[in-house]
Amino acid sequence: MKKLIWFGVLVLALASLASAQQFRTFPQIKKSGKILIGTEGAFPPFNFFDDQNHLKGFDIDIGNAIAKQLNLQPEWKAHAWDTMLIALNQGRFDFVIASHTITAERAKAVDFSKPYYCTGNVIVTKPGGPLTPEALKGKVIGAQLGTTFEEFAKQFGPKQLKTYQTNPDAVQDLMMGRIDAWITDQFTAIEAIKTRNLNLKVSGLLNKEEIGMAVAKGNSLLLAAINKALDDIQANGVYAKISDKWFGQDIRCK
Ligand code: ARG
Repeated sequence: MKKLIWFGVLVLALASLASAQQFRTFPQIKKSGKILIGTEGAFPPFNFFDDQNHLKGFDIDIGNAIAKQLNLQPEWKAHAWDTMLIALNQGRFDFVIASHTITAERAKAVDFSKPYYCTGNVIVTKPGGPLTPEALKGKVIGAQLGTTFEEFAKQFGPKQLKTYQTNPDAVQDLMMGRIDAWITDQFTAIEAIKTRNLNLKVSGLLNKEEIGMAVAKGNSLLLAAINKALDDIQANGVYAKISDKWFGQDIRCK
């Protein structure tokens, strides 16, 4: 009986050890020939679904270029923004490219690559609305849930901070006057206004954010391979071409 109990304890211990590392190492990925990439699909022009329901955007092109550089077949998986890093640590994809800002808080849970672009937050509002941090005090601000935009908006002392499941959800409320301002990324702001031809104003850049790809915590061989591939595509002109296609400029961190 005692033996049986000890055997049970051993099995449990082994099982928890196995579940602690729920990722494929780079050699395992290499052997399979394909790499699973997670993204959101609702953050144009970085990651979004086009009319034909195909994933498109800067993040998608960079992810594909990274896979190609590693000689691997990319397999994309779309996942909700707010649980994406949890899914990553559960081994649902090998890496994530979804415009995550590299933050100390997130770096406790996952490992980030070198930044693959730099950007910043802006305020978007109707003509005559609040366009400076000072003017935001006491106003109703909208931001995507679980983003750095939401965190950033808190400091302005809003009357209310309304959060949205996806980033473009806030635009509708802004147009309807249900929020006074929308905090978002500079490039997503320009894209939203351009594609829907909206009469909205955009502030200057309010901060600087470094954006990284993420791997499961401790997946160091894969991280090194991704960082090397990023260096390679930034050196051989592939990155510059993709960036020019989406933004008409090179958005790598200077
Ligand atoms: N860079 C911001 C953040 O990391 C927003 C990213 C939103 N990305 C997305 N796919 N919705 O919080």
